[in-house]
Amino acid sequence: MNYNCNCSRTNYLDHNYTYWEDREITSDEFEIINFLEKSYDLRSKSILHIGIGNSFFAKKFFKNQIFGITISQKEIDLAYSLGLPNYKVLLCDKYSLNFKEELNHMSFDLIVDTNLKSYSCCQVSFDFYMENLFHKLNKKGTLITSQNGMIWYKTLKPKLSFNFRNFFHFKLKEVEGNKENVLSHKELKSLAGQFNLEFSFDDKLCYLKK
Ligand SMILES: C[S@@+](CC[C@H](N)C(=O)[O-])C[C@H]1O[C@@H](n2cnc3c(N)ncnc32)[C@H](O)[C@@H]1O
Repeated sequence: MNYNCNCSRTNYLDHNYTYWEDREITSDEFEIINFLEKSYDLRSKSILHIGIGNSFFAKKFFKNQIFGITISQKEIDLAYSLGLPNYKVLLCDKYSLNFKEELNHMSFDLIVDTNLKSYSCCQVSFDFYMENLFHKLNKKGTLITSQNGMIWYKTLKPKLSFNFRNFFHFKLKEVEGNKENVLSHKELKSLAGQFNLEFSFDDKLCYLKK
């Protein structure tokens, strides 16, 4: 994948990495699902889900068209094994130039990314991602993120691992991340302003509306 910064990084296309496919949905994303179920009209809305994890989100909203992004091939294998007809997924680093290219002609009514900045390599890549993401929003579209997800940060390191189910396999291991990846309200609000989006929040989530 290509980037507009020179940070050293893992090439997620190198191996069939395992990451979140066997883990529980985070409570942060669960809060977003709760909000969508209770307070959001999802009828015929197209959704971009960044960070598909175990695809719990896609199973919940299987009637909607969902396009998912992940850096783990094993998460993709799980996603397709579910056989959901409206669900497509792509192996792509959201901070890369490829993200912009691969989603070139796509736009969405709703974007969900629980961890907007959590895995960013640097500010340049994060700003580039946010600009791309905002351009993917349809008119009146909404981007939703989690307040807890905003303060969570990790770096993913490749690791050769062994267990009796997968034998030798490559996994993405979370190690201490960059504290600058804590995304403040101030920064998110300022980004929203830059791209003419309406910013609001409650005790759990942040909303950016076009
Ligand atoms: C902590 S898991 C959370 C999964 C799910 N969103 C949830 O909250 O339960 C983070 C997710 O983000 C994805 N991810 C991490 N870094 C990414 C990146 N740079 N580009 C795209 N997806 C990424 C991982 O593959 C994984 O699906």
